[in-house]
Amino acid sequence: MPLKDEYLLPAAADMHVHLRNAPGPIAELVTPTIRPAGVDVVFVMPNLAPRPVVSVDEALEYKRQLQAIDSSITYLMSLYLHSSITPDEIRKAKKAGIAGVKAYPKGATTNSEWGVLSFEPFHDVLKTMEDEGIVLNLHGEVPSSPADGVTVMNAEAKFLPTLRDLVTKYPNLKIVLEHCTTADAVETVRSFGENVVGTITAHHLSLLVDDWSANVNNYCKPSAKSPSDRRALLDALVHSNGKFFLGTDSAPHDITAKKGPGNTAAGVFTQPFAIGYVLTALDEALARGDVAPDAVTDTALAGFLSGYGRAFYGVAAAEGRIRVRRGAATVPASFKGATGAEVVPFRAGEGMWGVEWV
Ligand code: NCD
Ligand code: ZN
Repeated sequence: MPLKDEYLLPAAADMHVHLRNAPGPIAELVTPTIRPAGVDVVFVMPNLAPRPVVSVDEALEYKRQLQAIDSSITYLMSLYLHSSITPDEIRKAKKAGIAGVKAYPKGATTNSEWGVLSFEPFHDVLKTMEDEGIVLNLHGEVPSSPADGVTVMNAEAKFLPTLRDLVTKYPNLKIVLEHCTTADAVETVRSFGENVVGTITAHHLSLLVDDWSANVNNYCKPSAKSPSDRRALLDALVHSNGKFFLGTDSAPHDITAKKGPGNTAAGVFTQPFAIGYVLTALDEALARGDVAPDAVTDTALAGFLSGYGRAFYGVAAAEGRIRVRRGAATVPASFKGATGAEVVPFRAGEGMWGVEWV
């Protein structure tokens, strides 16, 4: 039995988005796609280049610039875990309403060259985050290292001992294991208390390793993995109970960075159809028998897409409502900005669920 043809849901919250530098051509292209997608709260990642967001003042200025593009969205801002951040800056962040601090493993993904190799030097900062209730957002991979047997396929599993160490050392620290891609990650997050949660992207609910090895627009970090990993993510969605919620990791890159010579940029662009991609993945999972039809309840969908993420970050429950209809939209071949930016979305050219605010 497939999904219903139509759902009435609370406005969605997307707790992991890349909007890029603002003002800037990509931010101006992608930020206006948030609200039409049925989303009114986003957690904004700080991995800007040539300089990541490492201070409260920079985060607040970035927020103002995003508000200048669309003032109707609630932007939860974050800092990039960096040696320049002090415990005082964390206390200032709390007062300023900054929601989290994101740790990137050095060299593992886009704009991670300022990232961390070890959490040891950050003890005072992490302790202050624990005391102040600021969230630690983890890109949960270790950098690839052929000599140590680490590749994109096991980089997340190899990070999980570090997550366990962090939970042991900082038992009250609120932690998000971002973009879980493996059954191991789901199981590990489930083993901790309610201060440790995971985000799941829309694209990892449908992609496998074969899909990105054949198409650069499906390539991201962490990379999509095996059928059993995908089943675990689908199970985490429908049996979340607040442990897992949507963070699309929508990561727009100009078409030239995906197709040009040299390394292809990691990131899948999903912002404009975030909810539709989740529902499409669920429909496909139902057809494969990966998810039991009675597990896909309106309550599970509303929790994963909206309520659980808001609750974790202390954002009020959604006031707005959206109607999502099967087949009411088509994913364009690309999104083009006024100043020449061009970004290819996930599942370009496919029929898609459409969203209407009601
Ligand atoms: C992200 C980006 O493009 O900024 N890329 C990605 O593949 N997910 C960075 C990240 O979240 O790893
Ligand atoms: Zn990301």
